Amino acid sequence: MNKRILITGGAGFLGSHLCDRLLKDSADVLCVDNFFTGSKQSIAHLIGSPYFELIRHDVTFPLYVEVDQIYNLACPASPIHYQFDPVQTTKTSVHGAINMLGLAKRVKARIFQASTSEVYGDPEVHPQQEGYWGRVNPIGPRACYDEGKRCAETLFFDYHRQHNLDIKVVRIFNTYGPRMHPNDGRVVSNFIVQALKNDIITIYGDGQQSRSFCYVDDMIEGFVRMMNSEQGFTGPVNMGNPVEFTMLELAENVLRLVGSKSKLSFHPLPMDDPKQRQPDISLAKSKLDWEPKVSLEDGLKETIAYFKKTLNV
Ligand SMILES: NC(=O)c1ccc[n+]([C@@H]2O[C@H](COP(=O)([O-])OP(=O)(O)OC[C@H]3O[C@@H](n4cnc5c(N)ncnc54)[C@H](O)[C@@H]3O)[C@@H](O)[C@H]2O)c1
Repeated sequence: MNKRILITGGAGFLGSHLCDRLLKDSADVLCVDNFFTGSKQSIAHLIGSPYFELIRHDVTFPLYVEVDQIYNLACPASPIHYQFDPVQTTKTSVHGAINMLGLAKRVKARIFQASTSEVYGDPEVHPQQEGYWGRVNPIGPRACYDEGKRCAETLFFDYHRQHNLDIKVVRIFNTYGPRMHPNDGRVVSNFIVQALKNDIITIYGDGQQSRSFCYVDDMIEGFVRMMNSEQGFTGPVNMGNPVEFTMLELAENVLRLVGSKSKLSFHPLPMDDPKQRQPDISLAKSKLDWEPKVSLEDGLKETIAYFKKTLNV
């Protein structure tokens, strides 16, 4: 029998790619989403497949289904979206985790948590290893997301210790690719959309803050490897691309690949914006034999092609 796999947040950017991948791997996929940031368009091509089901549901409420594995991805991921209704963001992370962990306990499913590099906050160590506890401002505007995700990790590990739940926790670093939201303020989509429209490219600060960018296909491969890794390997495990670029370098690459005439304009840094963030992925390498394969150049080309098509420019 095919594995029955639940994906919360399955209509989102990463969730929709995970639906594609798991269907290709012959799973029965149950996609749950309240469409806060996700869209039916991202999964429209799957509707009609006998192995795909879609449920409109908010994970802050309990869900009763029979499944073998759960990927818990539901949560708005970009600052614009998660700060729009911060109370709901914390509820989604915390109540959502409680509901999904309760479900996993009832049906004895293995459960995966999409955590985030934001649990490290504005880090004092560089690059970040999983043992680093982080430096998060608990009362700032990003706390609804950062602390929500930290509490979700706590819940995962308490369910593991207290109820012997089979958990898999991944800390995701910046990921990009087709089906990102065009206006969610994340840097890759921002730069591409601005470049395609020949609009001014907004750079926060002096553009010297660095980030690493992982292409979506690499990330999804990491998710599947982690979910199917040996029993007892819980993580947390970092996943991301360790190759760093400054914002300025990213902007220059995008401008070149788009062939854009856009000019750069510099703005003040948003509050609590980390200056530097880079994953140490040695744990993922040794335990899962995983590392990103797609170069920034190739990933950007795919993403630019997607935005060109959807924005019709
Ligand atoms: N993309 C990244 O770079 C990145 C980085 C770190 C962590 N993550 C995590 O990965 C997961 C997926 O991120 P994404 O980039 O695909 O974001 P996304 O916003 O595209 O997807 C999130 C999905 O969750 C759904 N959702 C939100 N609240 C919900 C609720 N209460 N009930 C049901 N569905 C709900 C949204 O409608 C959306 O489809 C998130 O948990 C995010 O925190 C992503």
